[in-house]
Amino acid sequence: MTDGSALTNLAGQVIVVDHPLVQHKLSLLRDRTRSTQGFRKLLNEIGMLLAYEVTRDLPLQLADIETPLAPMRAPVLAGKKLVFAPILRAGMGFLDGMLELVPSARVAHIGLYRDPGTLAAVEYYFKAPPDVAERLVIVLDPMLATANSAVAAVDRLKERGCRELRLVCLLAAPEGIAHFHGVHPEVPIWTASIDSHLDSHGYIVPGLGDAGDRMFGTR
Ligand code: PRP
Ligand code: URA
Repeated sequence: MTDGSALTNLAGQVIVVDHPLVQHKLSLLRDRTRSTQGFRKLLNEIGMLLAYEVTRDLPLQLADIETPLAPMRAPVLAGKKLVFAPILRAGMGFLDGMLELVPSARVAHIGLYRDPGTLAAVEYYFKAPPDVAERLVIVLDPMLATANSAVAAVDRLKERGCRELRLVCLLAAPEGIAHFHGVHPEVPIWTASIDSHLDSHGYIVPGLGDAGDRMFGTR
């Protein structure tokens, strides 16, 4: 058990979650024949499994409780509730699974889309809890491609004073990891896979295609 004060320092790290359940579900989800409904369900399930990994070192403190047999000092989560920050749209695919595991978490919505020509991130919405700066913030986006979106999301959260940040993605391109850690070296990344490369349109190869379109059937 931790001492209730500090998270592990994972600055600059990329943690690849190689749990067999995550890898199996990821392969099912990548399959081009997966239905919209199946895609959403798998993303939700993987979100839950990734939440388990990214919260592995949350601080605990001891509280007095009574079991039916005896009083005891039992470990409970310490400190302020964490914040999940999905990048719209595809980040929403992780949210329900994560909230199922951490129901008391707060949510910050970050609306960004990639300009199809320049691949720059364009912000259209931002709403975070007023005390977001005092909480651990876990940014959610299944795809880390160029990383323009993730960099812009973390820039925005830092503008609001956030200092403890983590990024969870399903797939990461090597180019995206290099870009993201070039700008935000202290923010660790959890991913289920580091794929091969980006194509000329900024898509992850082999990847899974357009996550938002596959989630919502918009293509
Ligand atoms: C996708 C994805 C990420 C972004 C990743 O969103 O969900 O947010 O692209 O690409 P990047 O690392 O190159 O920025 P998209 O812009 O397609 O928006 P959508 O989720 O609303 O479809
Ligand atoms: N966004 C996606 O949804 N997929 C990619 O491969 C790259 C960016």
